[in-house]
Amino acid sequence: MSDDLPAADACLPPAIPHRRRPRYAGKNPRRFEEKYKEHNPQRYAATVAKVLASGKTPAGTHRPIMVAEILAVLAPRPGELAVDCTLGYGGHAREILAHLLPGGRLLGLDADTIELPKTEMRLREAGFGPEAFTVVRSNFAGLPQALSAQNLTGVDCLLADLGVSSMQLDDPARGFSVKLDGPLDMRMNPQRGFPASALLEKSSPAALTKLFQENADEPRAEKLSLALAGKNFSTTARLATAIREALPLVQKEQADLTVRRVFQALRIAVNDEFSALDTLLRHLPACLNPGGRAAILTFHSGEDRRVKKAFEAGLRAGVYAEIAPEIIRPSPEERRSNPRSSSAKLRWARKIAA
Ligand SMILES: C[S@@+](CC[C@H](N)C(=O)[O-])C[C@H]1O[C@@H](n2cnc3c(N)ncnc32)[C@H](O)[C@@H]1O
Repeated sequence: MSDDLPAADACLPPAIPHRRRPRYAGKNPRRFEEKYKEHNPQRYAATVAKVLASGKTPAGTHRPIMVAEILAVLAPRPGELAVDCTLGYGGHAREILAHLLPGGRLLGLDADTIELPKTEMRLREAGFGPEAFTVVRSNFAGLPQALSAQNLTGVDCLLADLGVSSMQLDDPARGFSVKLDGPLDMRMNPQRGFPASALLEKSSPAALTKLFQENADEPRAEKLSLALAGKNFSTTARLATAIREALPLVQKEQADLTVRRVFQALRIAVNDEFSALDTLLRHLPACLNPGGRAAILTFHSGEDRRVKKAFEAGLRAGVYAEIAPEIIRPSPEERRSNPRSSSAKLRWARKIAA
């Protein structure tokens, strides 16, 4: 062996310590943390492709919704500046970034302290360096401050894809899921505020009735509030059971929908989602450059109503040159291949040019 050659070991990638796969009962892993193949997509690409083909989202990932439609309305161009207010898994951000380069830049905001570092690492590994991609842990209600901290006065494209990511929804430890048992938390930023369990425990029946009605149009709000207010539910499963027990005469399908609505109402309250959206919509015109485009993806009527009203008011006031004449929905193919896209509604607005 020549002295010039590196030792054989130096040519090998660093050894990855062998980890035993998690133990699980039965033939296939069922729980989030047991799905070791889905958590390792590079190594188990075929398994991940199979999960996707079945219309499911692989554990620990998120499938961006209406990508083509969003790119069409935002029309990002090389050299432009964009902000993704809800970075999530970075699916939309990655697509937008590809259109901004060379010379452009994207700021990715998210409140989620758990997923944000993972997303940053993923996009860095995909080749987006700090000159093109900046990550900011922030609520989008603080967009003006986030921009001025980067010495920016406005952006050319803005995206907000509201609600929760599949990573948050599918991880039982986050407490968002109606199907998986976990602590009743629901905070996007677990370092701030109070979990849903604390909210229920400190709420009066009257306050809870209002919350269920305003956040989820829940028709049985009063009855449910009497059963749930002031009680201590430490886990998602206990809360789901209590909701069903409060409605003994309601058929299972209807009860399932009620459980979903109550979870949605609590999540919105825990994360103060409506007030964050109202604040973003108020600041939006000032955060867009002349001719700047904004796209907002909503998932229920409470969100869509706010976006529609704000965009229409901006058009009347002459702040926006044009807004979406009607909502844009996912194609039937997308709804089929990704059922989580079903309730999505896209609206857009374009600021006047000068
Ligand atoms: C539907 S996901 C976005 C997915 C993303 N578009 C993608 O392609 O991966 C919504 C994300 O928005 C974040 N989020 C929700 N409300 C927020 C707020 N007010 N401020 C900042 N981030 C927020 C959530 O933590 C979540 O990561």
